Amino acid sequence: MEFILVTPQAQPHVALIQLNRPKELNALNLQLMGELRDALKELDENDEVRAIIITGNERAFAAGADIKQMAGKTAIDMLNIDQFSTWDQIRKTKKPIIAAVSGFALGGGCELAMTCDMIIASETAMFGQPEIKIGVMPGAGGTQRLTKAIGKAKAMEMVLTGKFMPAEEAEKQGLINRVVPVELYLDEAFKLAAEIAKMSPVATKLAKESVNRSFETQLDEGLHFERKNFYLCFASEDQTEGMNAFVEKRAPEFKGR
Ligand code: CAA
Repeated sequence: MEFILVTPQAQPHVALIQLNRPKELNALNLQLMGELRDALKELDENDEVRAIIITGNERAFAAGADIKQMAGKTAIDMLNIDQFSTWDQIRKTKKPIIAAVSGFALGGGCELAMTCDMIIASETAMFGQPEIKIGVMPGAGGTQRLTKAIGKAKAMEMVLTGKFMPAEEAEKQGLINRVVPVELYLDEAFKLAAEIAKMSPVATKLAKESVNRSFETQLDEGLHFERKNFYLCFASEDQTEGMNAFVEKRAPEFKGR
């Protein structure tokens, strides 16, 4: 891997992926996104991993898709390159992903953070969809996910003006989970990941899938989907262990079966 650093057991059951093109503010070129897709697939298949953190560095989570790589392309080039099929694969990751964001999360960087399941931000984090300023618009889900997260009026303003939203406001608007001082954002992400990693990996996967389904379906279908996954939990040893442990007033030991 040239543009990302992967630590499968950064902490017990928690993997860390660091975007690593610091000079370019972690601009997401095609190779970086391909590496990220491959790393996530591997971590998804690794039974020891129960939660994944994606981070950048203090100055930038990611300042968007690589504008230099896209600048000379035609619409047909873009269609043939089909860069978003990589994003579709990333979206299919079954394990929970936390974005630990400091500094710029712009364009594809903001979209990548929103593709993750939760966002912990440092107080220096800035979210934005500034594509309009370079004559395009968000292409990796920004118009959809931002609107669902913060509502039409705020999303429209960000997408149409390219204005950034600081972390504190992003927290108020429900875009992110919380803001912490810059020296703590990674620790806070690890704390959250550790909490999630204590739960049943089976129930965690099914619950993530079900929450995501609420974005993709009408309520009726979403509730039906959720119910079926809930019943499926009862096919796991972890469900028996979890409920028995509760009744016996002890801590559960989940095995992912
Ligand atoms: N693509 C390619 N290179 C980028 C980049 C990007 N998205 N963002 C920053 N860089 C590069 C800069 O070109 C610069 O490289 P050089 O030193 O070789 O010139 C280096 O990173 C440092 O950047 P700046 O000197 O610009 O740093 P700054 O602190 O003055 O400004 C910034 C920071 C406001 C984030 C500014 O870099 C910026 O506006 N970046 C572009 C943000 C953007 O428009 N993102 C959307 C991209 S399109 C997209 O993402 C489409 C999609 O939906 C998938």
